Amino acid sequence: MLSLKISDLSTAELQNYLQYAIAPRPICFASTIDKSGNVNLSPFSFFNMFSTNPPVCIFSPARRVRDNTTKHTLENVLEVPECVINIVNYDMVQQTSLASVEYSKGINEFQKAGFTELKSELVKPPRVAEAPVQFECVVNDVISLGKNAGAGNLILAEIKLIHINEEILDADGKINQEKIDLVARLGGDWYCRVTKENLFKVAKPVRTIGIGVDSLPENIRYSKILTGNNLGQLGNVEHLPSLQEIEECNKNPQVHDFLKGLVENSPDRELKLHSFAKDFLEKGDVQTAWSILMS
Ligand SMILES: Cc1cc2nc3c(=O)[nH]c(=O)nc-3n(C[C@H](O)[C@H](O)[C@H](O)COP(=O)(O)O)c2cc1C
Repeated sequence: MLSLKISDLSTAELQNYLQYAIAPRPICFASTIDKSGNVNLSPFSFFNMFSTNPPVCIFSPARRVRDNTTKHTLENVLEVPECVINIVNYDMVQQTSLASVEYSKGINEFQKAGFTELKSELVKPPRVAEAPVQFECVVNDVISLGKNAGAGNLILAEIKLIHINEEILDADGKINQEKIDLVARLGGDWYCRVTKENLFKVAKPVRTIGIGVDSLPENIRYSKILTGNNLGQLGNVEHLPSLQEIEECNKNPQVHDFLKGLVENSPDRELKLHSFAKDFLEKGDVQTAWSILMS
């Protein structure tokens, strides 16, 4: 393991390590306005939601590493404590990047990047019409993290009104994770796109209290076949399957035939059993996997 002391790194080196490792980061495309009414639009990936009730997002226009100057977005919210957080999808990503060019104060990046201004209902800064989701926000607080180049400035934005393009909704009115077609920022020039192919689900251990990896039988816990992900799935069940449950699962013809073909006491029996169970885990069928492992 390479271990790095912060004091041995330049700010640029530190930023590089942090941005490659703390990724992907969602993008807040923030529109703000100064007290004279000049509109500004800039992307920020030091961004996330931090509270649902009240609904609060934080994003951070940092002091420039190059020359320790502050960003127009920060100056604007200090003058007019409002913003719109526009969510960036794949179709917008190149123009969004263009909006990050350091145009002089007073230059409207909606025009420079070719986005359409949509009047907001509650706040002064306009929304980005092309964005699939737009949050009208009031800025409750701005917290400076220091005066050095690279220091962040946390903008605490409370969401007051949400606008969602109906095209990304399912029939039940909820956002469809594929349709929203999100992009995120990583290190350097890297971005990623959330597509059908790279989306997957992990069962939420909210209502159940999983037995935990430490409760798995030793031969499973230290399996040569099962991965950490597989152990996490197995440890997320509330109890080991009962004899009755195992028998029920083993009625599955595929499982039945496999178990019938296994030679009792053969040296590779356990490896074969674990490999077979792993196939079911990869498909998300934890119950059958458990039944196979306990057979
Ligand atoms: C996708 C993306 C994400 C960015 N994230 C941040 C960020 O989180 N913090 C930051 O200070 N600058 C970030 N930048 C750079 C700012 O967008 C850039 O400095 C911009 O010119 C600031 O504009 P302003 O001075 O008009 O506010 C990002 C740029 C891009 C393209």
